[in-house]
Amino acid sequence: MERKLRIGIIGTGGIAYSHMRSYLQMDDVEIVGASDIVPGKARAFLDEFELNDVPAFENNADLLKLELDGVSVCTYNTTHHICACEAMEAGVNVLCEKPMSVTLEQAVEMARTQKKTGKILTIGFQPRYGANMRMVKELVRSGELGRVYYVQTGGGRRRGIPGGTFVDKKLAGVGCLADIGCYALDMALNTVGYKRPVTVSAYSSDFFGKNPKYYNKGPFDVDDFSCALVRFEDDMVLDFRMSWAMHMDTMGDMLFLGTDAGLKVKSPNPHLNWGGAWDGGIGEVYMYRDIGDNQVEIHIPKKMEDDKKGFFFLKCRDFCNAILNNGPSPIPWQEIIYNQAIIDGIIRSSAAKSEVRVEIPEI
Ligand SMILES: NC(=O)c1ccc[n+]([C@@H]2O[C@H](COP(=O)([O-])OP(=O)(O)OC[C@H]3O[C@@H](n4cnc5c(N)ncnc54)[C@H](O)[C@@H]3O)[C@@H](O)[C@H]2O)c1
Repeated sequence: MERKLRIGIIGTGGIAYSHMRSYLQMDDVEIVGASDIVPGKARAFLDEFELNDVPAFENNADLLKLELDGVSVCTYNTTHHICACEAMEAGVNVLCEKPMSVTLEQAVEMARTQKKTGKILTIGFQPRYGANMRMVKELVRSGELGRVYYVQTGGGRRRGIPGGTFVDKKLAGVGCLADIGCYALDMALNTVGYKRPVTVSAYSSDFFGKNPKYYNKGPFDVDDFSCALVRFEDDMVLDFRMSWAMHMDTMGDMLFLGTDAGLKVKSPNPHLNWGGAWDGGIGEVYMYRDIGDNQVEIHIPKKMEDDKKGFFFLKCRDFCNAILNNGPSPIPWQEIIYNQAIIDGIIRSSAAKSEVRVEIPEI
């Protein structure tokens, strides 16, 4: 066998375990190091996997001296751009956890660094690997709906405020919007294609996170609910809704309204506290169209997942394959920058309490 891919992990908190478990299933990959700014954390992480001889660092620069082929950036949202840029500047390919960043400015910095260094930068939206998300995209992109003029995201959690670094603005930047909202945006944009957003009118609130009846795990200073109307340059609109907690079972289904047909993707498990968000699972799928003078509702059977290893494994494997093939990036910034521009617009519009324009700078 040719030499193994040398992979490192930056940030060894919760999600780093999923990256590690995925890489450890690959015969052509070796984990050569990990880093975390919390003293001792990377060492303890590697030891848990019995990688006692693999070096741990408290400084990413030292990890990046190891002649790595790639790193997984698994830090909290506000440091994604710093860690990803540092790695690309050091000549290392990057799989960065979602969301790409917090602000558009940070995403632009990552995109420019990718362009300058030529390294692979892929963003970790694993629901894209689901057979049913691919099916929804295929149905919409087939042209069967005609011109798609309206998309609605749905889902959300009835009670599902996470803890840890997700609710601390200094570390997460934003709350439910970045945690699960970015998945709903990716579902919408990946399905219809990457249209340029031009304005955002948004509202965000934090009533549940600030109420000890619903959240008593400590300080909370991010959003637990966000909604927005996003206009795109070709006149399509996106009605975005996402919630970590609410007095409702779901914020609705995902809808694609077209001039020839409509598609409804039901919210999965809306009765479950954590089950209603778009994060890989989808409910039943229906198409609405006319046949002659008849308005019909067509149930589209869901697909069995074709890979038993799971979406998370597939996203890490796709990153490794891209390294072996010298690209292209499986989920490139050229797509995700639109997702990030909308998140940035929602943050600004909610703060300003008015509509804002979205300008994506030249990369
Ligand atoms: N794809 C998914 O399914 C999924 C699921 C959960 C979380 N996430 C994403 O993963 C990221 C991390 O989430 P988490 O739950 O693991 O958070 P976490 O707080 O448990 O872990 C983050 C780790 O990064 C470390 N860190 C922060 N800045 C660093 C830096 N500059 N250099 C090195 N280490 C640094 C922290 O000390 C911490 O140990 C978030 O962006 C989140 O959105 C993705």
